[in-house]
Amino acid sequence: MTPETVADELDEVLIGADELRQRVQELADEIAADHDGKDLLFVGVLRGAVMIMADLARAMPMSVEMDFMAVTSYGYARQSSGVVRILKDLDTDISGRHVVLVEDIVDSGLTLSWLLRNLESRDPASLEVCALIRKPEAVKVEVPVKYVGFDIPNEFVVGYGLDYRQRYRNLNVIATLPTAD
Ligand code: IMP
Repeated sequence: MTPETVADELDEVLIGADELRQRVQELADEIAADHDGKDLLFVGVLRGAVMIMADLARAMPMSVEMDFMAVTSYGYARQSSGVVRILKDLDTDISGRHVVLVEDIVDSGLTLSWLLRNLESRDPASLEVCALIRKPEAVKVEVPVKYVGFDIPNEFVVGYGLDYRQRYRNLNVIATLPTAD
């Protein structure tokens, strides 16, 4: 879906489709260079990471395995509750594996730090994070995100996997919504 389709519901387009495509390719090349000759497993966090996961994996110049986890995060609110619950766990045993956790967005960093602790306890050979988008709060808490697509201002964004009340995930750009309340 293009932004024109829902133009009256969006505020502005922050990151366009071409920019997304180009940055995802750069991230893929960087991850591949760092994992040369290694057996790589991408772990995507549903549902938000579905677009970045699919595009990143396709852009990789090497073979990667893919698995998914589903966790609760915001529910229907625009703020993180800090409560993380696994709705779907990995099917893969990651012990001894080189893992890249693929995230849509890191905001407060609460979801990510919880996930990292959880995955670390399974003894992977290495564990890095790739997040398409990082907000300023995440920089403050110093969540270790090795691969960052875009640093954006502290605004609520939708599109390219990110939703507001389950809408706009299939938007092909990253956009802001008009300020609520
Ligand atoms: P955190 O725990 O605050 O870092 O939030 C992480 C999760 O909250 C993400 O994986 C998203 O699902 C959701 N989230 C955070 N910021 C946004 C946003 O701007 N738009 C849509 N979802 C968001």
